[in-house]
Amino acid sequence: MRTRTIGDVTVSAIGLGAMPLSIEGRPDEAQAVSTVHAALEAGVTLIDTADAYHQPGTHEVGHNEELVARAVASFGGDTSDVLIATKGGHLRPDASSSAWTQDGHPAYLKEAARASAKRLGVEAIGLYQFHRPDPAVPYADSIGALADLLDEGVIRMAGISNADPDQIREANDVLGGRLASVQNQYSPAFRSSEAELVLCDELGVAFLPWSPLGGITNAGDLGTEHAAFAEIAAARGLSPQVVALAWELAKSDVVVPIPGSRRPQTILDSVSAATVKLAAEEIERLDRA
Ligand SMILES: NC(=O)c1ccc[n+]([C@@H]2O[C@H](COP(=O)([O-])OP(=O)(O)OC[C@H]3O[C@@H](n4cnc5c(N)ncnc54)[C@H](OP(=O)(O)O)[C@@H]3O)[C@@H](O)[C@H]2O)c1
Repeated sequence: MRTRTIGDVTVSAIGLGAMPLSIEGRPDEAQAVSTVHAALEAGVTLIDTADAYHQPGTHEVGHNEELVARAVASFGGDTSDVLIATKGGHLRPDASSSAWTQDGHPAYLKEAARASAKRLGVEAIGLYQFHRPDPAVPYADSIGALADLLDEGVIRMAGISNADPDQIREANDVLGGRLASVQNQYSPAFRSSEAELVLCDELGVAFLPWSPLGGITNAGDLGTEHAAFAEIAAARGLSPQVVALAWELAKSDVVVPIPGSRRPQTILDSVSAATVKLAAEEIERLDRA
């Protein structure tokens, strides 16, 4: 498996996005665990989760973190090199609504990180990401909480998500140059994070495209909606989804896509993108598509 780097940790070039295993439409526990095990068996060493990946309502907070922790623990092989990346600061508190809310207050984030560490069963979280800027809290204050968590040893690495270029620079400053990763939406259908990707490449900060296939609802139609991806896929005997992930990997060595999956088949197909090298002409064509 081709590898990439997040901070000082080597990870598989393709990670597993665990969100679909816990939100609406999730599979049963056995299928969810099989999906994580299939990823691990294939050499995936990065799993992305969040305390807010659960069905709406406070009673389920941490569902995905606990599921991922259980699945990794029950895998037969060595998982010592698996980086579990989680997030805090985004919530789904209302059981009657699918709305997501924000809380970027430092005290809240510090408490949330400690709760996540407990659920993951670790002393220090491998990578903790501030999920989404909270307009009610100065960004530097929220990131300051991550700096404290690093200094206190509650988290090993700090990342951010849904950040613009100014916020990326500000976060890296507040963290004293210790920003390890940025997780933003990026896919053939959503390319407006290109500026953040380029900045991460300049700074040597990992860039984790979220919904790299266009999201749970649209991922299956990627080839229908983006003909060039389907055509190159057909010519190479690959799926359009694999071509999309290979195209993202080709953008920069800092890119680590985290495709979501509810089935072993889909994560196994996605992982194969790590072995695909697109030609320069193919990349140019996909850039224009
Ligand atoms: N930071 C944020 O704000 C944020 C927001 C959204 C998501 N995320 C993270 O990003 C991860 C990925 O995003 P996402 O799950 O929303 O969307 P996605 O990765 O674009 O799409 C997920 C869907 O793609 C399908 N799929 C995966 N590989 C495939 C393949 N090779 N061929 C065909 N279909 C394939 C899966 O289908 P099956 O279900 O049938 O397996 C899954 O439901 C999430 O799991 C989460 O960890 C972060």
